[in-house]
Amino acid sequence: MSESIYLVECATAEQQAAVDELVKQFLLSDDKLASIIKEFRRRMEEGLAADGRVLKMIPSYVSERPTGSETGSYFAIDLGGTNLRVLRVTLDGKGGVKTEQQKFMLTEEAKTRTLFDFIAQSVETFLDDRNLRPTGQQPAISMGFTFSYPVQQTSINSGILVQWTKGLNVPGCVGRDVVRLLQDALLRLGLRVKVAALVNDTVGTLLSAAYTDPSSQMGIIFGTGTNAAYYEDISSVAKWKGTNPASGEMVLNMEWGAFDSDEFAFLPFTPHDIKLDRKSINPRKQAYEKMISGMYLGEIARNIVLWLADQRLLFDGRSSDILNSMWSIDTSYLSSAVTDDSPALSEIQQIIEKTLNVSNSTMADRRIFKIISVLVGERAARLSSVGVVATLTKRPELLDMPINIGIDGSMYEHFPDFERILAEAVSRFIPEPQFRNIRFSLAKDGSGVGAAIIAMLATKKDI
Ligand code: GLC
Repeated sequence: MSESIYLVECATAEQQAAVDELVKQFLLSDDKLASIIKEFRRRMEEGLAADGRVLKMIPSYVSERPTGSETGSYFAIDLGGTNLRVLRVTLDGKGGVKTEQQKFMLTEEAKTRTLFDFIAQSVETFLDDRNLRPTGQQPAISMGFTFSYPVQQTSINSGILVQWTKGLNVPGCVGRDVVRLLQDALLRLGLRVKVAALVNDTVGTLLSAAYTDPSSQMGIIFGTGTNAAYYEDISSVAKWKGTNPASGEMVLNMEWGAFDSDEFAFLPFTPHDIKLDRKSINPRKQAYEKMISGMYLGEIARNIVLWLADQRLLFDGRSSDILNSMWSIDTSYLSSAVTDDSPALSEIQQIIEKTLNVSNSTMADRRIFKIISVLVGERAARLSSVGVVATLTKRPELLDMPINIGIDGSMYEHFPDFERILAEAVSRFIPEPQFRNIRFSLAKDGSGVGAAIIAMLATKKDI
């Protein structure tokens, strides 16, 4: 018997049966989550022991914590999946920051060919517009470079691209040092800018949270993609061959989006996930990310919608050119659908009829569309707890004190109820009183701010 929120008024028995099947596939029991957490922990240990494992657990060469009393202006370049931002970050010495930034939308050409020249040109525009370009004898400007893709870091400012993830796929970059590629492009423009730190966005998010709140232990992105970084005891990183940092710890970039990609055995794959994976530009990669992050949730929903339409259980079997095209359901449509409580579900009607161009939707169609959105979003939020719980219980001593987790990304910030469902799921596995010590906080634009902070730490002394 379905829970009442999954009962579709005015649905046929066949429609309700299909919805019930979806509910069964997408709702995850605590037992199922517990078994995934256990496997996640095993994969973390494996990644700490050796390179090349599913969870890469990449040492970031960041081993310090900011104190919050640092002051000054620092620069960063933040490359995300769709945008590039150049920033000047001013630290006020009291844990507060001011940022001045310019956003550049990545062009198709940049995404497929000329990425590093595009970045260098954007830096040039930012500096020239503000009269900041160093001339003559002026020293080069140091910048932190946030690069939100898996990189095998070889020092604080060098690292080899392991693979592209999310939407980017620029040939000729995998296997090469991305700082070198950027530094060469800057040189071609005669710009005196030195890339002082190469930073994953999760590492940046953690450091920016740490500047504001010294109890920060973990930085997470729930956005276009998903990933996390945390401070690990260096003696637990068996594969680390470098000099041990004085602090005894190091931030690790987990690259947790890859979890279960080798086996496809633990995550709750449905035919709709498999279809998405098969048609993606990176099949059999980033399995966890594909169930959680904003880039993919709309597409999972689209697969479900078409599966129902093809059985004449939705839209009376009709579709449209738009609905037939991959990626035509943006994850933001699911956000809108989840919050549509109007009597006629008019927001959803708008999405179906105007945006997706499928005319004459019935109330049952709209209700089913809403249920699909709720199920896909709720599964994402509950699965997100897996990585959080596995990481926090890896260092259980930290849970006896207040601990802040800095989080950024569109899913966390905008998807309705994402934080509530995530926190509720975490509390099932880390109950009171320890749960009370955990604080989830939005680290808005943390990736860029953190990169500037790391560039500051790196130029002050070698980290
Ligand atoms: C993808 C990237 C990872 C990044 C994450 C969040 O998973 O591989 O490096 O941190 O997206 O942006």
